[in-house]
Amino acid sequence: MALFGALFLIKSQKSCMTTNTPNTTNKNLITWVQQMAGLCQPDSVHWCDGSEAENQSLCDLMVKSGTFTKLDEKKRPGSYLARSHPSDVARVEDRTFICAKTKEEVGSNNHWADPVAMKAELMGLFKGCMKGRTLYVIPFAMGPLESPICKIGIEITDSPYVVTNMRVMTRMGQAVMDKLGTDGKFIPCMHSVGAPLQPGQKDVAWPCEPDPKKKYICHFPDEPSIWSYGSGYGGNALLGKKCLALRIASTVAQREGWMAEHMLILGLTSPAGKKYYVAAAFPSACGKTNLAMMQPTLPGWKVTTLGDDIAWIRVGKDGRLWAMNPETGFFGVAPGTSAKSNPNALTACAKNTIFTNVVLTPDNDIWWEDMGVPAPAKGIDWEGNEWTPASGKKGAHPNSRFTAPASQCPVIDPDWQNPEGVPLSAILFGGRRPSTIPLVNEAFDWEHGVFMGSACGSETTAAALGAAGVLRRDPFAMLPFCGYNMADYFAHWLSFAKRTDRSKLPKVFFVNWFRRSAEGKFLWPGYGDNSRVLKWVCERVEGTGKAQTTAIGNVPAKDALDLSGLEMPAANLDELLKVDKEGWQKEIADVATNYAKFGDKLPKALSEQLEGLKKRLG
Ligand code: OXD
Ligand code: MN
Repeated sequence: MALFGALFLIKSQKSCMTTNTPNTTNKNLITWVQQMAGLCQPDSVHWCDGSEAENQSLCDLMVKSGTFTKLDEKKRPGSYLARSHPSDVARVEDRTFICAKTKEEVGSNNHWADPVAMKAELMGLFKGCMKGRTLYVIPFAMGPLESPICKIGIEITDSPYVVTNMRVMTRMGQAVMDKLGTDGKFIPCMHSVGAPLQPGQKDVAWPCEPDPKKKYICHFPDEPSIWSYGSGYGGNALLGKKCLALRIASTVAQREGWMAEHMLILGLTSPAGKKYYVAAAFPSACGKTNLAMMQPTLPGWKVTTLGDDIAWIRVGKDGRLWAMNPETGFFGVAPGTSAKSNPNALTACAKNTIFTNVVLTPDNDIWWEDMGVPAPAKGIDWEGNEWTPASGKKGAHPNSRFTAPASQCPVIDPDWQNPEGVPLSAILFGGRRPSTIPLVNEAFDWEHGVFMGSACGSETTAAALGAAGVLRRDPFAMLPFCGYNMADYFAHWLSFAKRTDRSKLPKVFFVNWFRRSAEGKFLWPGYGDNSRVLKWVCERVEGTGKAQTTAIGNVPAKDALDLSGLEMPAANLDELLKVDKEGWQKEIADVATNYAKFGDKLPKALSEQLEGLKKRLG
């Protein structure tokens, strides 16, 4: 096969498997791969170098096997479409486990599994799980290689789809092996789709374990290591993302004194040329990608993108908080991405992009619901069936995705790969909240900001399996991603007031673009008009923005938001900024119920914040 250079043989228990030359001198890595190959019994082993040639031969291989459809080279250069198995379309939170020594360490926010018992179970599952397949060794780094908090992972997978996605989403390839050297440390990440092939058995386009109860996404924070079995989709399988850069990294960050957060990072330049960096945490599918790449409607303001999903934040030498995006690509939700909601994302995925579970058009391009262009008269839907818009069925899966290189985003920030990161002026929290929560609300101080983060909640969407449209408390938008007890995580956030001079900490705000009227209509236009809120945030950072102090925080004074050129009924603004006492009383009760889950581990500072809010509301 073209993929392989020099061929070697690894002696496994029963058979001989072919392998290309390991592109590393790291003894621990070579030994680990040999052991894992012995366990999984693939037909061959391929050490990835991340090269263009390797990527192309994997894409060709997947076109041949039916996993990929090559899209029209003129319309969508270098791009492919994949369709997953209908059982494998989203993250599987109920099959996600943190295998720390004790249940208390992982808290009620995680599913705990005993590490010894889970390892034994995984050994059984992984034994022979790659029969008939190739085992790929993916060297990848999260964060620029020169960053003081860069982490190196090695993902072993039997999915070429995963290899090509990891190449977009992470710094993958030879440079990582070179950095690892002979004795560098790496985080082992084991992945299998869990679909061994018997001799002569024909493969399917999307191999996976279809039984949801047999999928496992396991994290061993004490080692640390990651073991994922049965799914080939997104965060379940691209192990650098949610598993390493959030769940494992959050535990490492707690030990090392930094933060791994589910946040976008953007740069905002004012008409006067002053630049501010903002990080924002919103639960899955609440528009992080849209905000990160926003085209401001306010003249003279400019947004640049540093990341759309994950931020690693540490105290810089100057005492400020510096944020860095550990990823190199966008794994964006496709439906709803349009020239109106996110023109820059459309440009980012105009070429060299992997689309998953969207509609294939007759001219070999892609389409999805709310793309802002007319639907094709017919197409092939995400399940591979002939589809017409008149069928009444969605053509693209609601959690269909594009995997696009960050470098292709037209507004990528010049410092997006800066190993030091960028200094934050503000942190935003938010969620999809049809009522009660105002458009924007500034915290009184750091502790109040941490309270706001801990009280995050949102209507659920399609990013994870489960019912959509119900309010779920999602503190810091980290509920599915915090790898340890969330009460300890709250305490970690609070500790930053002591780790640095508190006057250097970013200001904290809570935003809500999703308020609806009694008739169910959105009260705020959102998208590029969110720049109006960001402008006020910058003014507050400068100490110039006018605010009214209320029981819940500082909300913009009546005339403080720049609404020039915006046609919006005045009543909408009143509604968007008012403190709805009754709604807040319900909110307090709901936050209290959520806090009760943490028992006496909940930091006192947060119960005091809740009490303070209750008193202020009267
Ligand atoms: C994502 C998510 O895919 O948060 O980014 O679910
Ligand atoms: Mn996310």
